[in-house]
Amino acid sequence: MNGAREKWTSKVGFVLAAAGSAVGLGNIWRFSYVTGTNGGAAFVVIYLIAIILIGYPMMVTEVAIGRKSERNPVGAFKALAPNTPWYIVGGLGVFSGFVILAFYSVVAGWSVAYIFKAIAGFAPGTDFADVFVGHITGTAVPIIWHAVFMVLTFAIIAAGVVKGIQRWVKILMPVLVVLLIVMVFRAITLPGAGEGVAFYLAPRFEEVTAGTFLAAIGQAFFTLSLGMGAMITYGSYLSNKENIADNGGWVVGLDTAIALIAGFAIFPAVFALGYDPAAGPGLVFITLPAVFAEMPAGSLFGFIFFVLLSIAALTSAISLLEVVVAWLVDEKGWARPKAAVAMGIAIFVIGLPTTLGFGVWGDVRIIGMEILDFYDFLASELALPIGGALTAIFAGHVWKARTVIDETNNPPGAIKIGNWYGVLIKYLIPIAVFVVLIATLIDFFG
Ligand code: TRP
Repeated sequence: MNGAREKWTSKVGFVLAAAGSAVGLGNIWRFSYVTGTNGGAAFVVIYLIAIILIGYPMMVTEVAIGRKSERNPVGAFKALAPNTPWYIVGGLGVFSGFVILAFYSVVAGWSVAYIFKAIAGFAPGTDFADVFVGHITGTAVPIIWHAVFMVLTFAIIAAGVVKGIQRWVKILMPVLVVLLIVMVFRAITLPGAGEGVAFYLAPRFEEVTAGTFLAAIGQAFFTLSLGMGAMITYGSYLSNKENIADNGGWVVGLDTAIALIAGFAIFPAVFALGYDPAAGPGLVFITLPAVFAEMPAGSLFGFIFFVLLSIAALTSAISLLEVVVAWLVDEKGWARPKAAVAMGIAIFVIGLPTTLGFGVWGDVRIIGMEILDFYDFLASELALPIGGALTAIFAGHVWKARTVIDETNNPPGAIKIGNWYGVLIKYLIPIAVFVVLIATLIDFFG
């Protein structure tokens, strides 16, 4: 069976697919809104530290686990530690896949809807906060776009990983970067942009709490698609001829660069145009149309931007559904198309409360959060960090740090994973995650 597993076909296939998974709504929508609600620059600093000390080591770990086992997350733990309960960590990952994709697809649906709002035109002087609220509080319209997005996702997954994913990402990612850079220039030259740059770059550490750390760790996992086995699954399609340390470095570097650039397009504009940086999940959907409205041919740029954002979301959503589907295909013997369609529909249904929570179920709060925020919190700040920490304990202590180091450096590349990796994976990552998690929960419920 091992010999037959589908593999990425081009040398850059893995980097493209993994970067396609990593770069998505997390870099633009989630990064900016979480930075905004967590006070700006201090959050960004902690986030960058989390990327280096937790994100990169976890990236190479997951890819190594996947490549070695050639399995979905549940099967991977079973293969590397037979007859132990470790496969439950893989199961937690599959669960996270359901929850994340359920709300991710709703937000991606907003992005698709904004393509059409751009075609209708982003006019200067519009209150884009009103436009956004008007959109998400609707019933049928956001549900239809959520459905459209989910159908696209399961159609690609049904067709198979390599053909579906590899081709697109290569063309679209560079265009997205160029467009973001154009937007940065527009945003930072708006009168009053300086205050936004200060918010983004000048840390006020006195505002940092345990919750800031958890938000930063959660964002690091989310943006890099870590903590639920997506990179295990993608690593399982990686050939033994590729070096993991370098490939992982590319993915982490690209993803981080795109998020940081997006912040420069958003925060200067937020302040210059008088919006609230702590506006929450609507931030990019409110701010960026306002930036486009201030640009020549802004609606055209807006159209291109939301097309690209939707595609970036699609290449990420694919990786979320792929985890669930790979599990059913490998472990339960389902046919790929059947698994893709059935799970796509199930996840669509699980996502419905998150969109209804802005409209007809607008009064519902779960531990004080709107339904979408609650799903996001449950997955991104609880399930992913816990899944990641358990994966780290597994890799460091059960599979052994030494094995991971050898796997990641074979064949050798420019980056060499050294013994520092063992310290991070065995001790720092699990301890940091659990300490921050417990401190936040005490703050929150205490
Ligand atoms: N990383 C993606 C983004 O930033 C979202 C994503 C895709 C994801 N696969 C994942 C998040 C797996 C967590 C786990 O948009």
